[in-house]
Amino acid sequence: MSLIAVITGASSGIGEATAQRLAREPGARLVLVARREDRLRALVHSLPAPATYVAADITDAEAPSRVAAHVAATHGRLTLLVNNAGARWHGTFADGGYANVRQTMAVNFDGAVRMTEALLPLLRSSAPSAIVNVASVAGRVARGGAGAYSASKFALVGWSDALYAEERPHGVHVGLVLPGFIATEGFPATELRSRWVTRWMVSDTERAANAIVDAGLRRRVERYVPRPYAIAAAVRVLAPALLRRVQRAGAGGLLTPRTGADLAGVNGGQRGTRTLDLADVNRAL
Ligand SMILES: NC(=O)c1ccc[n+]([C@@H]2O[C@H](COP(=O)([O-])OP(=O)(O)OC[C@H]3O[C@@H](n4cnc5c(N)ncnc54)[C@H](OP(=O)(O)O)[C@@H]3O)[C@@H](O)[C@H]2O)c1
Repeated sequence: MSLIAVITGASSGIGEATAQRLAREPGARLVLVARREDRLRALVHSLPAPATYVAADITDAEAPSRVAAHVAATHGRLTLLVNNAGARWHGTFADGGYANVRQTMAVNFDGAVRMTEALLPLLRSSAPSAIVNVASVAGRVARGGAGAYSASKFALVGWSDALYAEERPHGVHVGLVLPGFIATEGFPATELRSRWVTRWMVSDTERAANAIVDAGLRRRVERYVPRPYAIAAAVRVLAPALLRRVQRAGAGGLLTPRTGADLAGVNGGQRGTRTLDLADVNRAL
C-alpha cells in the first residue's frame, strides 16, 4: 500500500528533513503544512515525489478541517500523519505567565490534537496507518525557563500513550519521537554548538527524520534522538533528587539555549510569517 503522508511544520528543520526522507519511499505522496508558503512551495518543487501543501497556522480554528478537506479531495486516503509543528518561547513562569503557557500549548499540544481529530477518520479508513507525535526530551525532563514548553510536551507524551492504546484495535499505530538537541532554525542550540564540551550533545535533522520514519513506517512505539537521551528520562524517574542536584549546579541554564522565536522577537517572540534561517539566528547571538 503506498504512503500518503501529512507532515506539519514542514517548512524548516525536522519537518523539512522528514519530507525529504519520506519522499524517497517508493510511491510516496506528501502533503506539507506550515505557515510560510514560500518555503512550502519551494520544497514541493524540490522533492523527488509528488507533493502538495496547505499553508496554514495550525492554531487557526479552521486549519485542521482545511487540511482534512485537501487530503480527502487530493488522495481520498491517509496512511501517515506526522504532528511535528512546534515552537518554544523562553521565559520563567513569573515572566511569561499564563500567556506563554497558552501560546505554547496552542501550537505544541492543541495543534497536534486538533490535527489528529480532523484526520483520524481518514487514518482509520486507510488502516494500517500511523500517527507520529514529535515531542521532546523536555516532555520527560523539565528545566527552568522552559516550563511552558515542557508542559506542552509532557501533555503530548501522555496523550500519545493513551491514543496508542485506543487506536491500536483500529489499525492506527501511534509512535512517539523525543528529540534532544537538534540544530534547526527554531532550536539553533548555538550556545551548545559553540563549546567543545557540549557540542556532542547536538544532533542533526536527518537523524530525527530517520527516527520519525522508524516510528511511522516501522511502527516503533518510542524513539529518542539520539538514543542516549533516554538515559535522562530514566534518571528523572529513578533518581529525581540527583537530577535536581545537577540542575541546581547550573546545568539547567546551560541546557536551555535561546530559540529562534526568542531571537526573532516578533509578536512577543512568535515568528509570524517572517523568514528566519539558521544563519540569521547565529548572527543574532
Ligand atoms: N530542534 C530541537 O532541538 C528539538 C528538540 C526537541 C523537540 N523538537 C520538536 O521538533 C519539532 C520541530 O522543530 P524544529 O527543531 O524542526 O524547529 P523549526 O525549524 O523551527 O520548525 C518548526 C516548524 O513548525 C512550524 N510551525 C510553528 N508554528 C506553527 C504554527 N502555528 N502553524 C503551523 N506551523 C507552525 C514552522 O513553520 P512556519 O514557521 O512556516 O509556520 C516550522 O516548519 C517541534 O515540535 C519541536 O518542539 C525540536
